[in-house]
Amino acid sequence: MARLRKEDTATRGRFHKDFLVGIIAAFLLFSATFMTVRAADSALSEADKGCLSCHSSEGLKKDLANGETLALHVQGEAFAKSVHKAIGCAGCHGDVDLKNHPAAQDNIKSLRQYAIERAAACRQCHEDAFKQHEGSLHAARVSQGNPLAPVCTGCHGSHSVSPKTAYETCVNCHSAALGAHRKWLPNAGLHHEVVSCAACHAPAALRMIDLRLYDSAAKGWVSEKEGSPLFEKLARSMDADGNGLDAAELRNLLREINRDAIAAPRTLRGRVELRTGVEAHRLSDKTQAIKACDNCHSDGAEPFRNITVSITGPDGRPVRYRARKEVLSSVLSVESLREFYAIGGTRNKFLDVLFVLALFGGIAVPVGHMTVKWLFRKYLKRGEGR
Ligand code: HEC
Ligand code: HEC
Ligand code: HEC
Ligand code: HEC
Ligand code: HEC
Ligand code: HEC
Ligand code: HEC
Repeated sequence: MARLRKEDTATRGRFHKDFLVGIIAAFLLFSATFMTVRAADSALSEADKGCLSCHSSEGLKKDLANGETLALHVQGEAFAKSVHKAIGCAGCHGDVDLKNHPAAQDNIKSLRQYAIERAAACRQCHEDAFKQHEGSLHAARVSQGNPLAPVCTGCHGSHSVSPKTAYETCVNCHSAALGAHRKWLPNAGLHHEVVSCAACHAPAALRMIDLRLYDSAAKGWVSEKEGSPLFEKLARSMDADGNGLDAAELRNLLREINRDAIAAPRTLRGRVELRTGVEAHRLSDKTQAIKACDNCHSDGAEPFRNITVSITGPDGRPVRYRARKEVLSSVLSVESLREFYAIGGTRNKFLDVLFVLALFGGIAVPVGHMTVKWLFRKYLKRGEGR
């Protein structure tokens, strides 16, 4: 059984190499084209330029009846780089009619009131996020009159919306909270690195483990280059049966990615994330946040049932590919998941111990379909092949 599998992987490996060379060549050829198209793309539409002919001037402002001042300056370049360039100003300001604009009027009571009212525009296109946010603790604080509690724009901004991680977003306002976690969470710094804030603060949402490519030499996440999206193609080509990467396929993917890595190999670091970004809006009161360790540190814990492998995309959004949950417990993953030990959640630490025992004693303990003996043989083979 084990042998059959091994041969299988070897043939597949050869096929993949040819296939990959093809893909890489194709991308080198086309990346120049991508660049030019993108450059042309970043220009704003005529309608938007029209709005900016007035709103790009820095001094433009409006005095409100309550004494506050609304700055009317909008940064065109930042908007052109934002996710909303395609919808244009009219996407959120459909109510502005240039025939009678600007109509000087006292329609705005306060800056806060204006921010709350305008955020309703987000609903047209992001109904799901809107609904989840409506039930959140922040929305409750907003309606209780807390002037600092965020509406949509409090976390995303209005004219330079870009994909962001929960960590940077939340810490903007909650830097003091980081210390509060240390009182009950050992190694809190590490947890904040590998567990997204929403994974604990949206307890009703579904979690998963995202295995993200990590550069252990540079100590940072690996980013994909603009215009050459290789990762997903690579993962797809490894995933021969199309039902998610298994442990052997994942190992092959990593070896392929590391082919030219000289300083130190890229590894995978597991992050506990929510399964969808939309659910990051289901934030509950702190009394309901996940606190019990066994939510993550136990065999078969909920987050460990869904696995993805990912790279940070050029725009900061993760590019994900599905993996099978067995990758976390398979002996074949020892190499790929060197950097990830959620005690109890993955069995790697335990397997490392087995590995050492195998080296010294040559014992043969059945692990899943394979024996450690077989693993050991494979390990030596790999040494020869290099
Ligand atoms: C001719 C210059 C000019 C153009 C063109 C222009 N605006 Fe304005 N806009 C203004 C001025 C001046 C104000 C402030 C009006 C006031 O004091 O009440 C304003 C106010 C606003 C406000 C603040 C809210 C309000 O109702 O006062 C928004 C939002 C706005 N403009 C959006 C737009 C959009 C979107 C476009 C393009 C479709 C646009 N503007 C085109 C000059 C302009
Ligand atoms: C994704 C939605 C969205 C798009 C697209 C958008 N705006 Fe806005 N705009 C808002 C929101 C929300 C506010 C309310 C202010 C706030 O909360 O920051 C606002 C406020 C404004 C204001 C009042 C001053 C201010 O900054 O608060 C002006 C002027 C304005 N927008 C102009 C524009 C122009 C010009 C464009 C196109 C270049 C544009 N907007 C595109 C959402 C948008
Ligand atoms: C007219 C439709 C429309 C409106 C209104 C709108 N958006 Fe968007 N939004 C989009 C589109 C289209 C995208 C780009 C989706 C993509 O690139 O996959 C987007 C993307 C986003 C993203 C990034 C999503 C990601 O994948 O990370 C955020 C965050 C976002 N919008 C927030 C807002 C906020 C906040 C408002 C209100 C101020 C708003 N949007 C209003 C259409 C809209
Ligand atoms: C408390 C901060 C916060 C508030 C308030 C907030 N968001 Fe978000 N939003 C986030 C974070 C963090 C993410 C990224 C989650 C992730 O990818 O893990 C996100 C992601 C998104 C996305 C991308 C979802 C996806 O499919 O990945 C959209 C769209 C969005 N928000 C729209 C909105 C809208 C509309 C509102 C207002 C109703 C809003 N957000 C209010 C923090 C916030
Ligand atoms: C714009 C500022 C802002 C941002 C961004 C923000 N929050 Fe908040 N948050 C607040 C305010 C204000 C409160 C209310 C504090 C209070 O009630 O004393 C609050 C309350 C909370 C509470 C409840 C604390 C308690 O005492 O019960 C939690 C938990 C929380 N936020 C988590 C988050 C998370 C997670 C994110 C990121 C997804 C986030 N916040 C983003 C401003 C923010
Ligand atoms: C491992 C789960 C977990 C993670 C990860 C986590 N939190 Fe918490 N957080 C909690 C729990 C549980 C509490 C309530 C602790 C208590 O007081 O009993 C809490 C409390 C808070 C509070 C209230 C603090 C106070 O002073 O009482 C805020 C605000 C908060 N968290 C924000 C965040 C932010 C921002 C992040 C991401 C950087 C984050 N949390 C990450 C579980 C978590
Ligand atoms: C939401 C999931 C989650 C919760 C809840 C959680 N942890 Fe963790 N914890 C993790 C993950 C994931 C790691 C793995 C970090 C790594 O190796 O990359 C980790 C790592 C650790 C480590 C460090 C292991 C090492 O290799 O250094 C300790 C110790 C730990 N957790 C203890 C706890 C305790 C005690 C609690 C309860 C008070 C707790 N954790 C709650 C997810 C969680």
